[in-house]
Amino acid sequence: MLTFDDNLFLKIVAWFFYCPFYIYALIVKFYFSKKRHVTVHAPQQPRVVVVTGASQGIGEGLVEYYCRNCPSCEIIIMISRSKEKLEKVKEQFDTNSQKKLLIYACDVTNSEEMKSILSDIHRTCGQIDILFANAGVSFRQLSENNSFDKAVRDIFKINVSGVINTIMPLIELKAVRQIVIISSQAAYAPVMSPIYGATKQCVLSFGLDLRHMLAKDNIAVNVVSPGPIVTPMLLGSNPRSVSRGVSVNEAARIMADGIRRNQAEIVFPAVTGIFMYLLQSLPTCLAEAIAFHLLVKN
Ligand SMILES: NC(=O)c1ccc[n+]([C@@H]2O[C@H](COP(=O)([O-])OP(=O)(O)OC[C@H]3O[C@@H](n4cnc5c(N)ncnc54)[C@H](OP(=O)(O)O)[C@@H]3O)[C@@H](O)[C@H]2O)c1
Repeated sequence: MLTFDDNLFLKIVAWFFYCPFYIYALIVKFYFSKKRHVTVHAPQQPRVVVVTGASQGIGEGLVEYYCRNCPSCEIIIMISRSKEKLEKVKEQFDTNSQKKLLIYACDVTNSEEMKSILSDIHRTCGQIDILFANAGVSFRQLSENNSFDKAVRDIFKINVSGVINTIMPLIELKAVRQIVIISSQAAYAPVMSPIYGATKQCVLSFGLDLRHMLAKDNIAVNVVSPGPIVTPMLLGSNPRSVSRGVSVNEAARIMADGIRRNQAEIVFPAVTGIFMYLLQSLPTCLAEAIAFHLLVKN
């Protein structure tokens, strides 16, 4: 029996028929993602900020941003697996700022340890104003030294369960005012980043669901969907992405700005966002061919 999915002709006809609606949807998506639908107010003068994956890359950029540009911020808590790398980040900013920087070496996949660390932070620092669930890995990084099976399991443990382990204890304690989940534009078109894109799709939907569900508890939730940002994760991937990458400082500034305005989803840069969004609305075989051309031939 002929089905829609295996008939390329039907799919292309349908795509052309719906094309104006896709463009309309795109405009509506980018316009309304900047609007507040939920009447929760984001903390305008955060005092306590927690960042996972703070030892390098985007996490380190966020620590630097809140150290240098947020006068109200008194305590910044950094979490990642490597104590040495966290110490280096702490040393770098301790001398230049009046903030109290605390470090916790922990793997976000360890739910019990995360729970005890987050309760400890709540006990000693009080209410957490902003919690960044940022720790994450790419599939390329995990595939380098692991079997396919282990890489798939580990990426879901870190990028999905790690986010749950980071945010649930503080939601349970009602000890957080704003949660920021770092997804990726890879969530729009996983064909460009297989498996990694699937994990980021998962946290994107999860975050947007939580935004509505936690509004009654006065907790703001935002999802960040960045394109390429120049960090150790990006280096070593597709040279085209690296050359288009945004700096971590610029990325941290854009994120902080969107968070302050309590944007549901913070998407940047716009060009790669629109490209990925349109790519997902193409017939699969066409999207795969474009992805193959961009990824394999470069
Ligand atoms: N760079 C990009 O182009 C880009 C684009 C879109 C989205 N993102 C997302 O942004 C987030 C940060 O990425 P990045 O580019 O800054 O990557 P990165 O430079 O590789 O840094 C990743 C951070 O996560 C920490 N981490 C990794 N696994 C962990 C674990 N199991 N437990 C605790 N901490 C862990 C790492 O520290 P330790 O090794 O010390 O644990 C490190 O601090 C990720 O979620 C990523 O998916 C990145």
